[in-house]
Amino acid sequence: MVKIGVLVSGGGTNLQALIDAQKSGIIKSGEIVCVVSNKPDVYALERAKKANIEGCVIKKSDYVTPADFDKAIADYMLSKGVDVIVMAGFLAIVGENLLSAYKDRIINIHPSLIPSFCGEGFYGLKVHEKALEYGVKVTGATVHFVNEIPDGGKIIAQKAVYIEEGDTAEILQKRVMEQAEWIILPEAVEMVCCKLKGDKNNG
Ligand code: GRF
Repeated sequence: MVKIGVLVSGGGTNLQALIDAQKSGIIKSGEIVCVVSNKPDVYALERAKKANIEGCVIKKSDYVTPADFDKAIADYMLSKGVDVIVMAGFLAIVGENLLSAYKDRIINIHPSLIPSFCGEGFYGLKVHEKALEYGVKVTGATVHFVNEIPDGGKIIAQKAVYIEEGDTAEILQKRVMEQAEWIILPEAVEMVCCKLKGDKNNG
């Protein structure tokens, strides 16, 4: 079974979608073995606890440099035997230590159709505010591999969501989560785990 480590920073609705997908069998090639938050007391850690998944906090402020913080996450994931890392609402930047330890094995969910409204400074509600400001009629979510460019890695899956009359950023964020993020993230994680499982079996 492929071991999945999940990185979180907040409410953990995407983590919950992964937990639910594992229970329902949508994710059958992988198993979530740990959850790491860069912030204490976030509800995502509660969700992990309720699902009997080990959770821990690794705070940037506990480390002298961003590279040390990054290495602490990599070392923890390696110590748990994690094969693939999923960034589910994770708001810290990953650096060289993590990227090299998990080359092409870190997945991120971004709440827009990349290459629109992505990159440095585009996260959370701000993504939806910019989409509304621009006046696009369609937005959505993207699951992609993580590399050194923010939101720049190879796209794995996308799902479109229509913007409706009177949408606020909050309303739009909720619709994109419900109609796109929580659907394509589990599907993409299963796809990647299934491939990794095949690679592992073929030696
Ligand atoms: C979501 O909009 C996700 O796309 C973004 O962070 C937000 C919060 O995610 N990456 P979660 O509820 O903590 O999973």
